[in-house]
Amino acid sequence: MNFYVMTLFPEMVMGGLNNSIIKRAMDNNLIRIEAVNIRDYTLDKHKKVDDYPFGGGAGMLMQAQPVWDCYQAVLENISTNEGKNQKPRVLYMSPQGKTFHQEMARELSKEQNLIFLCGHYEGIDQRVLDRIGAEEVSIGDYVLTGGEFPAMVMIDTISRLVPGVLNNDTSADEESFSDRNLLEYPQYTRPEEWEGEEVPEVLLSGHHKKIKEWRLQKAIENTKNKRPDLYLKYIKPDVE
Ligand code: ADE
Repeated sequence: MNFYVMTLFPEMVMGGLNNSIIKRAMDNNLIRIEAVNIRDYTLDKHKKVDDYPFGGGAGMLMQAQPVWDCYQAVLENISTNEGKNQKPRVLYMSPQGKTFHQEMARELSKEQNLIFLCGHYEGIDQRVLDRIGAEEVSIGDYVLTGGEFPAMVMIDTISRLVPGVLNNDTSADEESFSDRNLLEYPQYTRPEEWEGEEVPEVLLSGHHKKIKEWRLQKAIENTKNKRPDLYLKYIKPDVE
């Protein structure tokens, strides 16, 4: 799977993602992440990419030209790599977008190519967003200084759903949100006793059916206590 990130801060994106599991996934060619610097595409002789908003208002806006030319270069790169011209989805990181969630990640993990567009300053000229047909996506109801962290959050979340990225193939299915709107059960590792605290006995019993039942029970309790909104969806899955 290929991720293209259009950004003014490519080092930030690569620095954030080129570690741990995502780095290993890149090294194993399971995913590819390319951060493309929008500034490289400006025609302005001073390398400017932003200007004041028409009609006034605070801050600066990213201009259409460098964003559009950068997008064209990414599309060309994709069709050169693949020899075909299937238009990839473009996700514009914006607090105004649809809120990102696990189901969206699962759907996006099936794409061959994804383009992330990161704004900075007060946003991007609307004309280029419309022309690109960018889908606005938010990572939550708070405002960041730019789209780089949201793009990193989304790429991390999507990548771990790509087959082979996690060591254990089943672990992405068993965790929070994957299983009928339930959070995870608590987990324990060695030693069996730590500072007077024991691991729940059932987990040491080797009785798989009992362990499964205990975990489901704990997952239900956890969800009810920590996320009553999810718990309601668990007991009434068809009600939105
Ligand atoms: N850019 C600024 N804030 C954002 C948010 N919450 N989600 C996505 N992109 C953003």
